[in-house]
Amino acid sequence: MPVFSTLAELRGDPILGLSAQFREDSRGEKIDLGVGVYRSEGGETPIMEAVREATALLTEQEATKAYLPPSGTPHFQSAVARLVLGSENSVLASGRVTTLQSVGGSGALHVGARLIATSAPDAVVWIGNPTWANHAHLLGSAGVRLKEYPYYDSTTHSLDFDGLCKALATASAGDVVLLHGCCHNPSGADLSLSQWHTLTELVSNRKLVPFIDIAYLGLGMGIDEDAAGLRHMAENVPEMLIAVSFSKNFGLYRERAGALIAVTEKPSTAKVVASHLGSIARGVYSMPPAHGCALVETILHSNELTSLWQRELGDMRERINGLRSSLAASLGTATNKRDFTYLEDRLGMFCYLGLPVDAVTRLRKEHAIYMVDSSRINVAGINQHNLPRLVEALVAVL
Ligand code: LMR
Repeated sequence: MPVFSTLAELRGDPILGLSAQFREDSRGEKIDLGVGVYRSEGGETPIMEAVREATALLTEQEATKAYLPPSGTPHFQSAVARLVLGSENSVLASGRVTTLQSVGGSGALHVGARLIATSAPDAVVWIGNPTWANHAHLLGSAGVRLKEYPYYDSTTHSLDFDGLCKALATASAGDVVLLHGCCHNPSGADLSLSQWHTLTELVSNRKLVPFIDIAYLGLGMGIDEDAAGLRHMAENVPEMLIAVSFSKNFGLYRERAGALIAVTEKPSTAKVVASHLGSIARGVYSMPPAHGCALVETILHSNELTSLWQRELGDMRERINGLRSSLAASLGTATNKRDFTYLEDRLGMFCYLGLPVDAVTRLRKEHAIYMVDSSRINVAGINQHNLPRLVEALVAVL
């Protein structure tokens, strides 16, 4: 019997499947608030100017397309570690850090989970409820066991920090806790700095290993502000993993640029971990693609390009924050019976509108407005042109 005929067709991915449906929708006034890609006022996902300039430099200077080593280039690794951890972070000077150039943030998450499966096969990886829809898939397929901690209370529209701490108090030493560094996907409800401090104590006391996913650095409040929590944690825990993505903050989505940073207890362990990360990468995809990470490296090694990139990132951040405020204000005015003020203190690309799934379905079917079933929206998909129609449709389904 043919081998593949035993397979049953899978349902589409909850986020990417929505993009496919959106592309097929022929209605002219459709609005895509689904997949998390930045959009300009004109609805485009532009190439950042800093990336264009770095591309021109690379085209001029690149001398070879020969393979990179499985762990990537040292210049990229050091630039990323400084960007994420902060150049003054004591953990950098301690020699307890090793960085792998990865295939996007997703590659970093998967390789990190494989490292856990290799070094601590009995460890449970705790993921938030809710979390990014692909986390369970990326980590679970690496062979680790998953458990959930509560993160967001949809009845009060707020972060459930007590629930999170209570759940982690039941975790066993050596368990891993996946946290979002900033701009929580899907809720946009971030940990405050004081909650990061409390969590740092909790994970230290219970000997848990933090695994931070930071895919939206700079899109919340600013680079240093967004990284403050994880930087504090890195300085105060013996071991930690950080999955970094450059898809959103450098707009490099399809280039698959990312990194995995590992903080180890001793400098000698960093060397050992580096050998395992390289070996895991070799066993999955051999070596990383070069182009996207070379662009990041070029930008981060040039003061001029870094300033340009930071200005552009700041503009993106302000646009998103402005749109979220406009949406909250317009919804408040249009629906005097509902409170949408909770939208205002969300950070990053996403927030929940707090709609039931049948309202989300009606928005899609009757108004050509697409969002994930949980009512997570990509705020960057809103613009001044589609905002009134969006608000009108929301009022109609509420
Ligand atoms: C999202 O959450 O929409 C993005 O991270 C894109 C993706 O791959 O799901």
